[in-house]
Amino acid sequence: MKDYQGKTAVITGAGSGFGLEVARIAASRGMNLVLCDVQQDALDKAAAEFAGHQVLARRVDVAKADQMEALAAAVQERFGAPNFVFNNAGVGSGGLIWENSLADWEWVLGANLMGVVHGVRLFTPLMLAAAKADPAWQGHIVNTASMAGMLNPPNMGVYNVSKHAVVSLSETLHQDLALVTDQVRASVLCPYFVPTGITHSERNRPGELGAAKPTKSQLISQAMTDKAVSSGKLTAADVARMVFEALDEERFYIFSHPQALKGVQTRLEDVMQVRNPTDPFADKPEIGARLREALRSA
Ligand SMILES: NC(=O)c1ccc[n+]([C@@H]2O[C@H](COP(=O)([O-])OP(=O)(O)OC[C@H]3O[C@@H](n4cnc5c(N)ncnc54)[C@H](O)[C@@H]3O)[C@@H](O)[C@H]2O)c1
Repeated sequence: MKDYQGKTAVITGAGSGFGLEVARIAASRGMNLVLCDVQQDALDKAAAEFAGHQVLARRVDVAKADQMEALAAAVQERFGAPNFVFNNAGVGSGGLIWENSLADWEWVLGANLMGVVHGVRLFTPLMLAAAKADPAWQGHIVNTASMAGMLNPPNMGVYNVSKHAVVSLSETLHQDLALVTDQVRASVLCPYFVPTGITHSERNRPGELGAAKPTKSQLISQAMTDKAVSSGKLTAADVARMVFEALDEERFYIFSHPQALKGVQTRLEDVMQVRNPTDPFADKPEIGARLREALRSA
């Protein structure tokens, strides 16, 4: 995208972290803001910050098809087709993959995957119609995945599955859009550890998908993620700037920590050489040893 003034941005998970920081840049570039979040107080706070801008703030659970359908209709009515859609809302989870309950799978896949599915299936047709009607019209969809969509770190399998699916969906979206238009593009955001509210995701877990008492592996995963996320050096604002650089440059992959791509290379070499997946702790064997010991002890 080249021109942002007066254009419309739809941002899910706008109440915190990357969503809020992306909203701040979108506002500074003169965009109309559609702010969505499932957490009402965070959404109200964000909307208050952008008073003076054109804002449509809406409490939406991105996992719910009917709420996302109502959102798309409201956006179309108020602003017309959005130029920028940031399908970003998501939640973290951990634990050995067989220990996650059905409710865990439904919660995480609902927010992380189905939220993106709904954003893509509902907004892309509006964007394509706007592009068809005006050869100068431009749009861009950014889906938030994770480095966990490129790698498979152990003891956080449900999250990995959700994020690999978002990478797959986004790469396919890029290819499918290229078949039909040059005016609407896609990107996938793959952050590594960045301090945000992600480690407190349970705060917004719906009652009907309530969590069971956490298992030992889930508690260990939570402690490790807390430590990794809280010691992240980049800020959410840094990542938001990277998102807009990618929009400016029409770039598909957005990696917050390019150094983490070394692990992707190893994984792909495992595949190419048909060898077993490399130990993810090969570079830090003491962490792997500690994790194995903690999980194997009674
Ligand atoms: N922070 C990291 O280290 C990191 C790394 C990789 C990927 N991510 C991804 O980044 C995205 C944004 O997370 P963040 O780190 O900014 O965390 P965050 O918790 O600060 O922000 C996420 C926002 O999404 C909202 N949300 C959660 N479930 C929702 C739902 N069902 N419907 C609508 N809104 C919902 C939350 O209320 C919150 O405001 C997520 O998809 C996350 O998986 C984060």
